[in-house]
Amino acid sequence: MTSEPIQKPADTSANLHPLVGERWSPRIFDTSYALDQNQTLSLAEAFRWSPSSSNEQPWHVVLLHKETALFEEVSATGLGGFNASWAPNSSAYAIVLADQKLDGNPRDMDKTYFDAGLAASQLVTQAEAMGLRAHYMGGINRDEILKTLQGRDREVVCVIAIGKQGSLAGQTDELIARETTPRERKDPAAVYTIDGVLS
Ligand SMILES: Cc1cc2nc3c(=O)[nH]c(=O)nc-3n(C[C@H](O)[C@H](O)[C@H](O)COP(=O)(O)O)c2cc1C
Repeated sequence: MTSEPIQKPADTSANLHPLVGERWSPRIFDTSYALDQNQTLSLAEAFRWSPSSSNEQPWHVVLLHKETALFEEVSATGLGGFNASWAPNSSAYAIVLADQKLDGNPRDMDKTYFDAGLAASQLVTQAEAMGLRAHYMGGINRDEILKTLQGRDREVVCVIAIGKQGSLAGQTDELIARETTPRERKDPAAVYTIDGVLS
């Protein structure tokens, strides 16, 4: 089994920047790797400097390092199904939250989720630019995570597992099978239209 982390570049003839074309969502992380404070700060600032509707910035991100009590608690109670088996091997969680209120009143959550998604994506791009990998998780126990973080007037959008990609050597058959599954996308015609109307 190869000891090199596998790569899964986008299967396209288009000229993509490596930050776009080479990003993918691994589940195998190097368990010995720890993020330092500068890396964590860069991730947090990438999130903070994301664009948002009317610059309302209706979001928050909680970054938790491995081997802290909060990371362990989210690992134990906050992750659903298969996520609970692999994500605790990452080096950090970025927990993305959306504000439910604006000036004390309920927010338009559709706009809010869109803004929070953009900020999450910007954080992931920053992670990739620093040689890290990231894996979004929506299969999470949102109420448990909110309880752990003692959050109010916010909801958990997703958790992002972040770390250095690990190798396939010594991993379980199930993890290897998932890790080596090709990345697939819908056909271009189903996804984009250039200079035309929708049919
Ligand atoms: C909002 C969101 C939630 C996701 N939730 C999970 C999850 O709970 N568990 C998981 O293994 N992958 C999850 N993924 C990863 C997707 O399955 C993955 O992005 C998709 O299969 C495309 O693969 P790629 O990221 O390698 O291109 C999620 C991705 C996004 C954007």
